[in-house]
Amino acid sequence: MTKRVAIFISGGGSNMLALVRSMTGGHPARPCLVFSNDPGAAGLARAAALGVPVAAVDHRPFGRDRAGFEAALLPHLEAARPDIIALAGFMRVLTAGFVARYEGRILNIHPSLLPKYPGLDTHARALAAGDAEAGCTVHVVTEKLDDGPVLGQARVPVLPGDTPDRLAARVLEAEHRLYPAVLRRFAAGDRRPVLLPG
Ligand code: GRF
Repeated sequence: MTKRVAIFISGGGSNMLALVRSMTGGHPARPCLVFSNDPGAAGLARAAALGVPVAAVDHRPFGRDRAGFEAALLPHLEAARPDIIALAGFMRVLTAGFVARYEGRILNIHPSLLPKYPGLDTHARALAAGDAEAGCTVHVVTEKLDDGPVLGQARVPVLPGDTPDRLAARVLEAEHRLYPAVLRRFAAGDRRPVLLPG
């Protein structure tokens, strides 16, 4: 049975595009919705151009009322009947209630080799620490931010003269390889981690 994948974005959606473009032919999943917390997210138009249904709810009017924002997004999500939710550059923290509703079926990509550097500014922190390598992680979303079982990692070298932006660009390319590979395995029920070398 083909799995239905809802993808959450907040901006350009380059990871979303990589995921959508990967779900073709014999792939066990297909995109059913691209959702954003920002109605102006550039990724929404890019998804629509590929024929994927889109929806957006502006999180700003809800302020810190995360549950209120989620209550507004839920009808759009439930209408899409997702089996899997892939967070892809989604910059909002989901409540424990939302995570529990989709227990074990929400994936996220984080631009560091977790458990190193949960949270923000991962590349600057890796450079400040003098790390020889960096990378990205796809994990199952749990109540604890940037935690949860690791489904895949990709490693990239830190190069002399790297700035956070240069390293971010190198890691982003690895994200675009890692996330589709992890989603395909996850949708097929295969929980072996995907490990891409540097
Ligand atoms: C990037 O910083 C990426 O590392 C992280 O989310 C941000 C935006 O990604 N996963 P995208 O281009 O919107 O997918």
